[in-house]
Amino acid sequence: MSAAGRPVRPGNYAQQARTYDYTRGASPTVVRTVAKYLGTPGGLLLDIAGGTGNYAQVFQARGFRVVVVDASVDMLRRSVPKVGSGRQVAADAMELPFRDQAFDCAMLVHGLHLIPEPSRALEEVRRLVRAGPAIVMDPTSDNVPLFVHEYFGIKPSAASRPSTAQLVAMLQSAGFGRVDHELVIYTDSVDGSLHALHTSALHLAGPAYLRNTSFWMGLDDDTRRAGLAALARDLRSGLLEERVGAHFAQAAVQGHETVFAAWP
Ligand SMILES: C[S@@+](CC[C@H](N)C(=O)[O-])C[C@H]1O[C@@H](n2cnc3c(N)ncnc32)[C@H](O)[C@@H]1O
Repeated sequence: MSAAGRPVRPGNYAQQARTYDYTRGASPTVVRTVAKYLGTPGGLLLDIAGGTGNYAQVFQARGFRVVVVDASVDMLRRSVPKVGSGRQVAADAMELPFRDQAFDCAMLVHGLHLIPEPSRALEEVRRLVRAGPAIVMDPTSDNVPLFVHEYFGIKPSAASRPSTAQLVAMLQSAGFGRVDHELVIYTDSVDGSLHALHTSALHLAGPAYLRNTSFWMGLDDDTRRAGLAALARDLRSGLLEERVGAHFAQAAVQGHETVFAAWP
């Protein structure tokens, strides 16, 4: 439990909320990709696990009416200056307090991997959207594997994320009739997720960037110190820059993440 008596969720967003927007903004790579599927602005858009509202702000400016829903009130609070008050709902993505077909479309960016039962969340999205699309963006096990874990002595389990085919099947089981997907390749690190940070050696080695990731929240202090020292060493020698370059070449083939667009 947090000091305020609320349950601490994976990623500890009560803590991340304090610094999140220092390194996590609306990535042009993500905006371009989501915009392509959302189509004509004007509809009511639900941003699920919308956090501090970075993407909701962009799509509101483009003409969508937005509602941001998130499990963390600390994250949500930061969205108020961006999209206005009265547009936030604190709720779990697995049980959303809205009537059926209350929204034209929805997006779930960098949130699915944090939800304990992702298929339940996808069923909720399907229940809530009218024409769609529902857009889900997350890394799958088919996307490029990250290497930053090695610096912290961690071996990520290959089974920790669903494959692209499994996610398509989950969306279909949730009741979506048409599901498209494509690779996302970051050309910026504006939204400093762990995947986007792999495009910049300087950012990847920077504690200010890493601390706004769920990965960092799972590490103890000694592991953090040792990993940062190893990253700093390879940044100085130029090895980190080389690894980032090689990683990008692999990401160009496998993608950093995958975007799914689903219609009822
Ligand atoms: C990496 S942040 C992404 C925020 C936003 N989508 C963005 O890309 O800027 C993940 C967000 O998911 C939220 N979250 C985690 N589990 C959740 C759940 N079960 N239901 C709703 N939100 C959840 C966290 O509170 C956090 O704000």
